[in-house]
Amino acid sequence: MLHKADNRPIGVFDSGLGGLTVVAALSRLLPDEDIVYLGDTARVPYGDKSVDSIRSFALQDAEFLFSRGVKMIVVACNTVSSVAMKTLHQNYPDAHILGVLDAGIRAAVRTGLKKITVLGTRATINSDAYRRGIHAVDPSIIVESIACPLLVPMAEEGIVDNELACAVLDIYLKQVKADPPDAVLLGCTHYPLFQKALNRYFENGVRIIDSATACADYVSDFISANALSATPGKGAKNSFFVTDMHSEFSVHAARFLSRPPERVQKIVLTED
Ligand code: DGL
Repeated sequence: MLHKADNRPIGVFDSGLGGLTVVAALSRLLPDEDIVYLGDTARVPYGDKSVDSIRSFALQDAEFLFSRGVKMIVVACNTVSSVAMKTLHQNYPDAHILGVLDAGIRAAVRTGLKKITVLGTRATINSDAYRRGIHAVDPSIIVESIACPLLVPMAEEGIVDNELACAVLDIYLKQVKADPPDAVLLGCTHYPLFQKALNRYFENGVRIIDSATACADYVSDFISANALSATPGKGAKNSFFVTDMHSEFSVHAARFLSRPPERVQKIVLTED
């Protein structure tokens, strides 16, 4: 049966610019889907905040995107996905809200690999959500989790593939390198920027699973299964909203998006 196209935009949010890696992957996979992106750049990083604060920020982010008429929300922030999905679903029981964490779990399990190291923000790793999610599907997978709090500010600053980046990776990953896993799961949407440096660090000896790319696959499957696809061939028009915009914003954003973002507006989020 043919379904009517749904040309409402997809809402995507993250604490800052990291979620733009999800937007880049979504645009490649679903070129006809309009995207409304919100980066809470005034309050990034979320990963070092309390669970209560992250939940309250997540509700404000979602409220803004729903006010823009989106058909669904993609939580392109592993930190929010780890601690606030229940809060979001309770507050918007009828809405489609997908989290990057579930996409990362699905991608990790699908590799069939048995020893996986998850890298994430402090909040993501403290929540233990990746290990619990992977073990809910396959308890035989060995999961090790490592918080790498410096990587988010470094990614936002573009310090991702030089001596300093390598030295910081070594601080977090020295022990992992001594007894390497089969795969490293990038459980933060800022981390795909370190992919090259990580491959070099592990001498191409471990598989890198990128939760941002995994998220685009997950959204694509969901849209097809729920008859939410936009009109084929119509092309996409994206808009970007941020809560703070410094003078270097476009240059920084382009690193995550692989192009400068178009139609960027600064907004103020309403306290709940
Ligand atoms: N990019 C986000 C994530 O996937 C959050 C980074 C942060 O705000 O700490 O976890």
